[in-house]
Amino acid sequence: MRATYAEINLSHLKSNYLNIRRKVGKSKIMAVVKADAYGHGMRECVLSLMKLGDKKPEYYGVALIEEAVELRKTCNCKEPIVSFAPLLIDDLDEYYTYNIMPTICTEEHIKKLKKLNSNRKLKVHINIDTGMGRLGFHYSKALHAIRRISEIKSVEIDGIYTHFATADERNKSFAALQLDRFKYIIHILSNENINYGLAHAANSGAILDIPNSYLDMVRPGISLYGYYPSLETTESIKLKPVMSLISGISTIREMRKGETVSYGRLFKANKNLKVATIPIGYADGYFRNLTNKAFVIINGKKYPQIGRVTMDRIMINIGDADLRTGGKVILLGAEKQVKFDGWDWSKILNSIPYEVTCAVSRRVPRRYKN
Ligand SMILES: Cc1ncc(COP(=O)(O)O)c(C=O)c1O
Repeated sequence: MRATYAEINLSHLKSNYLNIRRKVGKSKIMAVVKADAYGHGMRECVLSLMKLGDKKPEYYGVALIEEAVELRKTCNCKEPIVSFAPLLIDDLDEYYTYNIMPTICTEEHIKKLKKLNSNRKLKVHINIDTGMGRLGFHYSKALHAIRRISEIKSVEIDGIYTHFATADERNKSFAALQLDRFKYIIHILSNENINYGLAHAANSGAILDIPNSYLDMVRPGISLYGYYPSLETTESIKLKPVMSLISGISTIREMRKGETVSYGRLFKANKNLKVATIPIGYADGYFRNLTNKAFVIINGKKYPQIGRVTMDRIMINIGDADLRTGGKVILLGAEKQVKFDGWDWSKILNSIPYEVTCAVSRRVPRRYKN
């Protein structure tokens, strides 16, 4: 069996979650566990959060109905689940059977909901586009839409929500504008005694830095998994990365000065040195663009990755270090105060830790640590 695995530290997950809980006070929490809990393994993450007794998340948020069904089936999860995906009438049976709340966000949805001929109420969340420009009723038309949805007998509005485009940026002015637009809608609905359920808006960036956006519920994603959403937010909640990517030294060989490594010969030895191969490659989520730029950690020391990253293997310049095959290698994580984590990868890749953890492929087994 090859030595590569992702270690998922569930006590870090719980401590991140409880720190968020402390910060948001009385607001409910919808734990965002879409995309297999950002690559960490939805089932185990949810089972671990469910153990937190009266502090556990009140809601779960997913991006696909398939994820919601999996959550019901594999975790025996009884909490409400919201799917951020727009309503699909073909999936109606699943919404009822598994008690999943779809997102309502278009005029076409309203037409379809009006035609529902059901004695059972369909619970829904309504998305309002206050400036994200992705999904949702445009804020200028949302009141009209919500009033009409509230009159449909077979529908119950369990919540209304919006999503911030820039909550993780230093300049909060656009997020403030979005929040004003959303709050205005809530205010009018309240005045008209329209029951809109729970109002929610805050993603991780807003949870960190925009306390007046907490409303009835917050929706943390990346912060659960231990990363700040950008390098521009405060660190007002203590977070610890949940995922480490670990492998082992597979082979060590000597290279002579002038010899080259891997496809395209992008690394040339400027002296005699030793090269270790590690059984991880871009098929595992070790991005090809890390070529010649990343480091790994062995025994608390950083060593450079050299030569093109290949599909299944990378090479490390270990110089003249006395290392052995089988020795532990940390690709993503920390050891003895030395770290090379999702942000280090992101700076090289011009990306964000979200993409890094989501990209760790299925072929990498997850090992859970309590
Ligand atoms: C609708 C919605 N809410 C909340 C989140 C969580 O965002 P974050 O991971 O930045 O906390 C996401 C993720 O993109 C989302 O799509």
